[in-house]
Amino acid sequence: MEWLSGGLVLVLLAGVTMQLPSKTLPWGYHPGHTKERHSQYMRILVTGGAGFIGSHIVDHCIAAGHEVAVVYNLWEEGGGKKENLNPQARFFRADITDEATLQALFDEIRPEVVSHQAAQHSVAISTKNPRLDATVNVLGLLNVLSNCMRVGTRKLIFASSGATYGTPAWLPVDEEVPQQPESPYGITKMIAEHYLRYWQAAHGLAYTALRYGNVYGPRQDPNGEAGVIAIFAKRFLNQEPVRIDWDGEQKKDYVYVEDVARANLLALEQGENEICCIGTGRAASVNELYQALATITGYHPEIVRAPKRPGDIYLTYFDCRKAEQILGWKPEVSLEEGIEKTVAFFRK
Ligand SMILES: NC(=O)c1ccc[n+]([C@@H]2O[C@H](COP(=O)([O-])OP(=O)(O)OC[C@H]3O[C@@H](n4cnc5c(N)ncnc54)[C@H](O)[C@@H]3O)[C@@H](O)[C@H]2O)c1
Repeated sequence: MEWLSGGLVLVLLAGVTMQLPSKTLPWGYHPGHTKERHSQYMRILVTGGAGFIGSHIVDHCIAAGHEVAVVYNLWEEGGGKKENLNPQARFFRADITDEATLQALFDEIRPEVVSHQAAQHSVAISTKNPRLDATVNVLGLLNVLSNCMRVGTRKLIFASSGATYGTPAWLPVDEEVPQQPESPYGITKMIAEHYLRYWQAAHGLAYTALRYGNVYGPRQDPNGEAGVIAIFAKRFLNQEPVRIDWDGEQKKDYVYVEDVARANLLALEQGENEICCIGTGRAASVNELYQALATITGYHPEIVRAPKRPGDIYLTYFDCRKAEQILGWKPEVSLEEGIEKTVAFFRK
Protein backbone atom coordinates (compact mmCIF):
# COMPACT_ATOMS: atom_id res chain seq x y z
CA MET A 1 0.00 0.00 0.00
CA GLU A 2 1.45 3.34 -0.95
CA TRP A 3 0.51 6.65 0.67
CA LEU A 4 0.76 9.85 -1.30
CA SER A 5 0.57 13.41 -0.06
CA GLY A 6 -2.47 15.68 -0.49
CA GLY A 7 -4.93 13.30 1.13
CA LEU A 8 -4.91 10.94 -1.83
CA VAL A 9 -4.44 7.28 -1.13
CA LEU A 10 -3.32 5.01 -3.90
CA VAL A 11 -3.64 1.32 -3.16
CA LEU A 12 -2.39 -1.34 -5.47
CA LEU A 13 -4.13 -4.60 -4.75
CA ALA A 14 -4.27 -7.38 -7.31
CA GLY A 15 -4.10 -4.86 -10.12
CA VAL A 16 -6.85 -2.59 -8.75
CA THR A 17 -6.17 1.13 -8.72
CA MET A 18 -8.07 2.90 -5.98
CA GLN A 19 -8.20 6.60 -5.32
CA LEU A 20 -9.65 8.09 -2.17
CA PRO A 21 -10.20 11.82 -2.37
CA SER A 22 -9.41 13.61 0.85
CA LYS A 23 -12.91 15.10 1.11
CA THR A 24 -14.68 11.75 1.63
CA LEU A 25 -15.70 10.40 5.01
CA PRO A 26 -13.49 7.57 6.24
CA TRP A 27 -14.46 4.37 4.45
CA GLY A 28 -16.15 2.07 6.92
CA TYR A 29 -18.22 4.89 8.40
CA HIS A 30 -21.16 2.48 8.67
CA PRO A 31 -19.54 -0.60 10.17
CA GLY A 32 -20.94 -4.08 10.44
CA HIS A 33 -23.61 -4.10 7.79
CA THR A 34 -25.53 -7.32 7.39
CA LYS A 35 -27.99 -8.48 4.76
CA GLU A 36 -30.79 -7.48 7.12
CA ARG A 37 -29.44 -4.03 7.95
CA HIS A 38 -31.35 -1.33 6.17
CA SER A 39 -29.61 1.87 7.13
CA GLN A 40 -30.62 5.32 6.06
CA TYR A 41 -27.15 5.86 4.66
CA MET A 42 -25.72 3.04 2.61
CA ARG A 43 -22.45 1.95 1.12
CA ILE A 44 -23.14 1.68 -2.58
CA LEU A 45 -21.03 0.43 -5.45
CA VAL A 46 -22.02 1.85 -8.83
CA THR A 47 -20.53 -0.12 -11.72
CA GLY A 48 -20.20 2.06 -14.79
CA GLY A 49 -20.34 5.08 -12.48
CA ALA A 50 -18.23 7.19 -14.86
CA GLY A 51 -20.69 6.54 -17.67
CA PHE A 52 -23.66 8.63 -18.72
CA ILE A 53 -26.45 7.24 -16.52
CA GLY A 54 -24.15 5.80 -13.84
CA SER A 55 -22.53 9.17 -13.13
CA HIS A 56 -25.93 10.80 -12.53
CA ILE A 57 -26.84 7.94 -10.17
CA VAL A 58 -23.58 8.53 -8.30
CA ASP A 59 -24.39 12.25 -7.99
CA HIS A 60 -27.89 11.51 -6.65
CA CYS A 61 -26.63 8.92 -4.16
CA ILE A 62 -23.92 11.26 -2.85
CA ALA A 63 -26.39 14.14 -2.58
CA ALA A 64 -28.61 11.83 -0.50
CA GLY A 65 -25.72 11.22 1.91
CA HIS A 66 -24.65 7.72 0.84
CA GLU A 67 -21.08 6.48 0.57
CA VAL A 68 -20.37 5.68 -3.03
CA ALA A 69 -17.67 3.72 -4.79
CA VAL A 70 -17.40 3.60 -8.56
CA VAL A 71 -16.06 0.86 -10.81
CA TYR A 72 -15.37 2.11 -14.24
CA ASN A 73 -13.25 1.54 -17.24
CA LEU A 74 -12.67 4.06 -19.98
CA TRP A 75 -13.60 1.73 -22.81
CA GLU A 76 -13.53 3.89 -25.92
CA GLU A 77 -16.83 2.56 -27.28
CA GLY A 78 -18.60 3.13 -23.96
CA GLY A 79 -19.41 6.39 -22.29
CA GLY A 80 -16.99 6.20 -19.35
CA LYS A 81 -15.24 9.56 -18.90
CA LYS A 82 -12.94 10.83 -16.18
CA GLU A 83 -14.73 14.19 -16.12
CA ASN A 84 -17.96 12.39 -15.13
CA LEU A 85 -16.43 11.08 -11.91
CA ASN A 86 -17.84 12.68 -8.77
CA PRO A 87 -14.85 13.66 -6.57
CA GLN A 88 -16.71 12.57 -3.45
CA ALA A 89 -16.83 8.96 -4.62
CA ARG A 90 -14.05 6.39 -4.48
CA PHE A 91 -12.86 5.35 -7.91
CA PHE A 92 -11.74 1.92 -8.95
CA ARG A 93 -10.61 1.54 -12.50
CA ALA A 94 -11.29 -2.08 -13.32
CA ASP A 95 -12.95 -4.32 -15.87
CA ILE A 96 -15.98 -6.19 -14.54
CA THR A 97 -15.00 -9.23 -16.60
CA ASP A 98 -11.69 -9.51 -14.71
CA GLU A 99 -12.48 -12.01 -11.93
CA ALA A 100 -9.43 -11.50 -9.70
CA THR A 101 -9.61 -7.71 -9.83
CA LEU A 102 -13.32 -7.60 -9.10
CA GLN A 103 -12.89 -9.96 -6.18
CA ALA A 104 -10.20 -7.76 -4.61
CA LEU A 105 -12.35 -4.73 -5.19
CA PHE A 106 -15.45 -6.24 -3.52
CA ASP A 107 -13.30 -7.35 -0.58
CA GLU A 108 -12.23 -3.75 -0.17
CA ILE A 109 -15.63 -2.08 -0.65
CA ARG A 110 -18.05 -4.68 0.75
CA PRO A 111 -21.04 -2.82 -0.71
CA GLU A 112 -24.46 -3.06 0.87
CA VAL A 113 -26.07 -2.26 -2.47
CA VAL A 114 -24.68 -2.57 -5.99
CA SER A 115 -26.10 -0.42 -8.76
CA HIS A 116 -25.07 -2.34 -11.85
CA GLN A 117 -24.92 0.09 -14.76
CA ALA A 118 -21.73 -1.11 -16.48
CA ALA A 119 -22.51 -2.72 -19.80
CA GLN A 120 -21.84 -2.91 -23.45
CA HIS A 121 -24.71 -0.48 -24.06
CA SER A 122 -25.06 -0.34 -27.84
CA VAL A 123 -27.54 -2.36 -29.91
CA ALA A 124 -25.45 -1.63 -33.02
CA ILE A 125 -22.21 -2.92 -31.47
CA SER A 126 -24.02 -6.00 -30.16
CA THR A 127 -25.13 -6.93 -33.68
CA LYS A 128 -21.56 -6.56 -34.97
CA ASN A 129 -19.88 -8.20 -32.00
CA PRO A 130 -22.30 -10.40 -30.02
CA ARG A 131 -19.41 -12.09 -28.24
CA LEU A 132 -18.20 -8.80 -26.74
CA ASP A 133 -21.77 -7.96 -25.76
CA ALA A 134 -22.27 -11.30 -23.98
CA THR A 135 -18.86 -11.17 -22.32
CA VAL A 136 -19.56 -7.83 -20.63
CA ASN A 137 -23.32 -8.08 -20.16
CA VAL A 138 -23.57 -11.71 -19.06
CA LEU A 139 -20.15 -12.85 -17.81
CA GLY A 140 -19.50 -9.43 -16.26
CA LEU A 141 -22.85 -9.61 -14.45
CA LEU A 142 -22.08 -13.13 -13.18
CA ASN A 143 -18.81 -11.83 -11.80
CA VAL A 144 -20.68 -9.06 -9.98
CA LEU A 145 -23.36 -11.45 -8.67
CA SER A 146 -20.82 -13.97 -7.36
CA ASN A 147 -19.03 -11.24 -5.48
CA CYS A 148 -22.29 -9.82 -4.08
CA MET A 149 -23.01 -13.25 -2.65
CA ARG A 150 -19.48 -13.64 -1.29
CA VAL A 151 -19.39 -10.34 0.63
CA GLY A 152 -23.04 -10.33 1.75
CA THR A 153 -24.39 -7.53 -0.46
CA ARG A 154 -28.08 -7.02 0.30
CA LYS A 155 -29.37 -5.80 -3.05
CA LEU A 156 -28.49 -5.27 -6.70
CA ILE A 157 -30.22 -2.64 -8.81
CA PHE A 158 -29.96 -3.50 -12.48
CA ALA A 159 -30.04 -1.32 -15.60
CA SER A 160 -32.29 -3.35 -17.88
CA SER A 161 -33.76 -2.13 -21.10
CA GLY A 162 -36.82 -1.74 -23.28
CA ALA A 163 -34.70 -3.57 -25.87
CA THR A 164 -35.62 -6.81 -24.09
CA TYR A 165 -39.11 -6.60 -25.64
CA GLY A 166 -38.22 -6.37 -29.32
CA THR A 167 -41.29 -5.28 -31.28
CA PRO A 168 -43.84 -5.13 -28.46
CA ALA A 169 -46.88 -7.39 -28.60
CA TRP A 170 -49.02 -4.50 -27.32
CA LEU A 171 -48.72 -0.86 -26.42
CA PRO A 172 -48.04 0.86 -24.16
CA VAL A 173 -45.34 -1.54 -23.03
CA ASP A 174 -45.77 -2.71 -19.45
CA GLU A 175 -43.94 -5.35 -17.45
CA GLU A 176 -46.28 -8.11 -18.70
CA VAL A 177 -45.48 -7.69 -22.40
CA PRO A 178 -43.61 -10.85 -23.55
CA GLN A 179 -39.90 -10.33 -24.10
CA GLN A 180 -38.88 -11.18 -27.66
CA PRO A 181 -35.59 -9.30 -28.04
CA GLU A 182 -34.47 -8.58 -31.58
CA SER A 183 -30.81 -7.84 -30.91
CA PRO A 184 -27.97 -9.54 -29.04
CA TYR A 185 -28.02 -6.58 -26.61
CA GLY A 186 -31.73 -7.16 -25.88
CA ILE A 187 -31.01 -10.86 -25.41
CA THR A 188 -28.20 -10.30 -22.89
CA LYS A 189 -30.27 -7.79 -20.91
CA MET A 190 -33.16 -10.28 -20.77
CA ILE A 191 -30.83 -13.10 -19.70
CA ALA A 192 -29.48 -10.83 -16.98
CA GLU A 193 -32.96 -10.41 -15.52
CA HIS A 194 -33.31 -14.22 -15.35
CA TYR A 195 -29.99 -14.45 -13.52
CA LEU A 196 -31.25 -11.88 -10.98
CA ARG A 197 -34.38 -13.95 -10.38
CA TYR A 198 -32.30 -17.10 -10.03
CA TRP A 199 -29.78 -15.44 -7.70
CA GLN A 200 -32.53 -14.13 -5.50
CA ALA A 201 -34.16 -17.58 -5.21
CA ALA A 202 -30.89 -19.48 -4.81
CA HIS A 203 -28.80 -17.06 -2.77
CA GLY A 204 -31.20 -14.46 -1.32
CA LEU A 205 -29.76 -11.44 -3.13
CA ALA A 206 -32.59 -8.92 -3.52
CA TYR A 207 -32.87 -7.04 -6.80
CA THR A 208 -34.78 -4.36 -8.64
CA ALA A 209 -34.52 -4.34 -12.42
CA LEU A 210 -35.39 -1.07 -14.14
CA ARG A 211 -36.23 -1.38 -17.81
CA TYR A 212 -35.19 2.00 -19.14
CA GLY A 213 -36.64 3.58 -22.25
CA ASN A 214 -34.33 5.72 -24.39
CA VAL A 215 -32.40 7.72 -21.82
CA TYR A 216 -31.00 11.11 -22.83
CA GLY A 217 -29.46 14.17 -21.22
CA PRO A 218 -26.18 15.81 -20.21
CA ARG A 219 -23.02 13.62 -20.39
CA GLN A 220 -24.42 11.23 -22.98
CA ASP A 221 -21.72 10.37 -25.47
CA PRO A 222 -22.48 12.39 -28.65
CA ASN A 223 -19.95 10.37 -30.65
CA GLY A 224 -21.44 6.93 -30.07
CA GLU A 225 -23.85 4.91 -32.18
CA ALA A 226 -26.65 5.23 -29.63
CA GLY A 227 -28.22 8.33 -28.13
CA VAL A 228 -29.86 10.24 -30.96
CA ILE A 229 -30.57 13.38 -28.90
CA ALA A 230 -26.92 13.78 -27.83
CA ILE A 231 -25.66 13.04 -31.35
CA PHE A 232 -28.12 15.51 -32.86
CA ALA A 233 -27.45 18.18 -30.21
CA LYS A 234 -23.74 18.17 -30.95
CA ARG A 235 -24.21 18.18 -34.72
CA PHE A 236 -26.87 20.93 -34.65
CA LEU A 237 -24.57 23.09 -32.52
CA ASN A 238 -21.61 22.41 -34.84
CA GLN A 239 -23.86 23.08 -37.85
CA GLU A 240 -23.10 19.65 -39.29
CA PRO A 241 -25.44 17.34 -41.27
CA VAL A 242 -27.41 14.72 -39.33
CA ARG A 243 -28.17 11.15 -40.34
CA ILE A 244 -31.75 9.93 -40.13
CA ASP A 245 -32.26 6.19 -40.49
CA TRP A 246 -35.39 4.53 -41.84
CA ASP A 247 -38.10 7.16 -42.50
CA GLY A 248 -37.50 9.06 -39.26
CA GLU A 249 -41.00 8.16 -38.08
CA GLN A 250 -39.70 5.47 -35.71
CA LYS A 251 -40.96 6.51 -32.29
CA LYS A 252 -39.39 5.82 -28.91
CA ASP A 253 -39.99 6.74 -25.29
CA TYR A 254 -37.26 9.29 -24.40
CA VAL A 255 -36.72 9.63 -20.65
CA TYR A 256 -34.51 12.29 -19.07
CA VAL A 257 -31.44 11.00 -17.23
CA GLU A 258 -32.17 12.81 -13.94
CA ASP A 259 -35.54 11.07 -13.81
CA VAL A 260 -33.79 7.73 -14.35
CA ALA A 261 -31.26 8.50 -11.60
CA ARG A 262 -34.14 9.33 -9.25
CA ALA A 263 -35.78 5.96 -9.98
CA ASN A 264 -32.50 4.29 -9.06
CA LEU A 265 -32.31 6.24 -5.81
CA LEU A 266 -35.84 5.18 -4.87
CA ALA A 267 -34.96 1.56 -5.68
CA LEU A 268 -32.31 1.56 -2.95
CA GLU A 269 -35.04 0.92 -0.40
CA GLN A 270 -38.07 -0.14 -2.42
CA GLY A 271 -39.12 -2.46 -5.22
CA GLU A 272 -37.62 -5.63 -3.74
CA ASN A 273 -37.47 -8.37 -6.42
CA GLU A 274 -39.53 -6.34 -8.83
CA ILE A 275 -39.09 -5.22 -12.41
CA CYS A 276 -40.32 -1.76 -13.44
CA CYS A 277 -40.50 0.09 -16.74
CA ILE A 278 -38.92 3.55 -16.59
CA GLY A 279 -40.12 5.87 -19.33
CA THR A 280 -42.56 8.71 -19.90
CA GLY A 281 -45.52 7.11 -21.69
CA ARG A 282 -44.94 9.40 -24.66
CA ALA A 283 -43.55 8.29 -28.04
CA ALA A 284 -41.52 10.80 -30.05
CA SER A 285 -40.23 10.29 -33.59
CA VAL A 286 -36.73 11.11 -34.82
CA ASN A 287 -38.33 13.71 -37.11
CA GLU A 288 -39.93 15.36 -34.05
CA LEU A 289 -36.56 15.43 -32.30
CA TYR A 290 -35.09 17.10 -35.39
CA GLN A 291 -37.80 19.78 -35.27
CA ALA A 292 -37.39 20.35 -31.52
CA LEU A 293 -33.63 20.80 -31.89
CA ALA A 294 -34.10 23.08 -34.90
CA THR A 295 -36.41 25.29 -32.81
CA ILE A 296 -33.99 25.44 -29.88
CA THR A 297 -30.80 25.99 -31.92
CA GLY A 298 -32.32 28.00 -34.80
CA TYR A 299 -30.50 25.77 -37.29
CA HIS A 300 -31.88 23.23 -39.81
CA PRO A 301 -29.01 20.91 -40.73
CA GLU A 302 -28.91 18.87 -43.92
CA ILE A 303 -30.40 15.39 -43.49
CA VAL A 304 -28.47 12.35 -44.75
CA ARG A 305 -30.80 9.38 -45.26
CA ALA A 306 -29.81 5.85 -44.21
CA PRO A 307 -31.59 2.46 -44.05
CA LYS A 308 -33.11 0.91 -40.95
CA ARG A 309 -30.48 -0.28 -38.50
CA PRO A 310 -30.60 -3.96 -37.48
CA GLY A 311 -32.49 -4.42 -34.23
CA ASP A 312 -34.23 -1.03 -34.42
CA ILE A 313 -37.92 -0.90 -33.36
CA TYR A 314 -40.55 1.23 -35.11
CA LEU A 315 -42.84 2.11 -32.21
CA THR A 316 -42.49 1.72 -28.50
CA TYR A 317 -43.51 3.60 -25.36
CA PHE A 318 -44.07 2.61 -21.77
CA ASP A 319 -46.80 2.32 -19.21
CA CYS A 320 -44.98 3.26 -15.99
CA ARG A 321 -47.80 2.81 -13.48
CA LYS A 322 -45.96 -0.04 -11.76
CA ALA A 323 -42.96 2.21 -11.06
CA GLU A 324 -45.36 4.76 -9.61
CA GLN A 325 -47.07 2.20 -7.37
CA ILE A 326 -43.95 0.37 -6.26
CA LEU A 327 -41.25 3.04 -6.21
CA GLY A 328 -43.37 6.17 -5.96
CA TRP A 329 -41.66 7.30 -9.16
CA LYS A 330 -42.99 9.45 -11.97
CA PRO A 331 -41.05 11.25 -14.69
CA GLU A 332 -40.80 14.97 -13.98
CA VAL A 333 -38.93 16.42 -16.95
CA SER A 334 -40.81 16.95 -20.22
CA LEU A 335 -39.13 16.11 -23.52
CA GLU A 336 -38.94 19.79 -24.50
CA GLU A 337 -37.36 20.77 -21.17
CA GLY A 338 -34.97 17.82 -21.28
CA ILE A 339 -33.81 18.62 -24.82
CA GLU A 340 -33.20 22.23 -23.80
CA LYS A 341 -31.10 21.09 -20.82
CA THR A 342 -29.17 18.71 -23.07
CA VAL A 343 -28.46 21.41 -25.65
CA ALA A 344 -27.36 23.77 -22.85
CA PHE A 345 -24.92 21.11 -21.66
CA PHE A 346 -23.41 20.60 -25.12
CA ARG A 347 -23.15 24.36 -25.69
CA LYS A 348 -20.63 24.62 -22.81
N1 LIG B 1 -28.73 5.03 -22.51
C1 LIG B 1 -29.87 4.37 -22.67
O1 LIG B 1 -30.78 4.83 -23.36
C2 LIG B 1 -30.10 3.04 -21.99
C3 LIG B 1 -31.33 2.40 -22.18
C4 LIG B 1 -31.57 1.19 -21.54
C5 LIG B 1 -30.59 0.64 -20.72
N2 LIG B 1 -29.38 1.26 -20.58
C6 LIG B 1 -28.38 0.65 -19.73
O2 LIG B 1 -28.00 1.61 -18.75
C7 LIG B 1 -26.64 1.38 -18.38
C8 LIG B 1 -25.85 2.65 -18.52
O3 LIG B 1 -25.85 3.02 -19.91
P1 LIG B 1 -25.27 4.39 -20.44
O4 LIG B 1 -26.15 4.85 -21.52
O5 LIG B 1 -24.99 5.28 -19.31
O6 LIG B 1 -23.95 3.89 -21.14
P2 LIG B 1 -22.43 4.27 -20.84
O7 LIG B 1 -21.61 3.55 -21.86
O8 LIG B 1 -22.27 5.74 -20.71
O9 LIG B 1 -22.20 3.61 -19.43
C9 LIG B 1 -21.78 2.30 -19.28
C10 LIG B 1 -20.53 2.31 -18.47
O10 LIG B 1 -20.09 0.97 -18.32
C11 LIG B 1 -18.69 0.97 -18.44
N3 LIG B 1 -18.25 -0.34 -18.87
C12 LIG B 1 -18.48 -0.95 -20.04
N4 LIG B 1 -17.87 -2.13 -20.06
C13 LIG B 1 -17.25 -2.27 -18.86
C14 LIG B 1 -16.46 -3.28 -18.28
N5 LIG B 1 -16.17 -4.40 -18.95
N6 LIG B 1 -15.97 -3.09 -17.03
C15 LIG B 1 -16.24 -1.95 -16.35
N7 LIG B 1 -16.99 -0.96 -16.84
C16 LIG B 1 -17.49 -1.12 -18.10
C17 LIG B 1 -18.39 2.02 -19.50
O11 LIG B 1 -17.04 2.45 -19.43
C18 LIG B 1 -19.38 3.09 -19.11
O12 LIG B 1 -18.80 3.92 -18.13
C19 LIG B 1 -26.14 0.25 -19.26
O13 LIG B 1 -26.28 -0.95 -18.55
C20 LIG B 1 -27.10 0.27 -20.44
O14 LIG B 1 -27.19 -0.98 -21.07
C21 LIG B 1 -29.12 2.46 -21.21
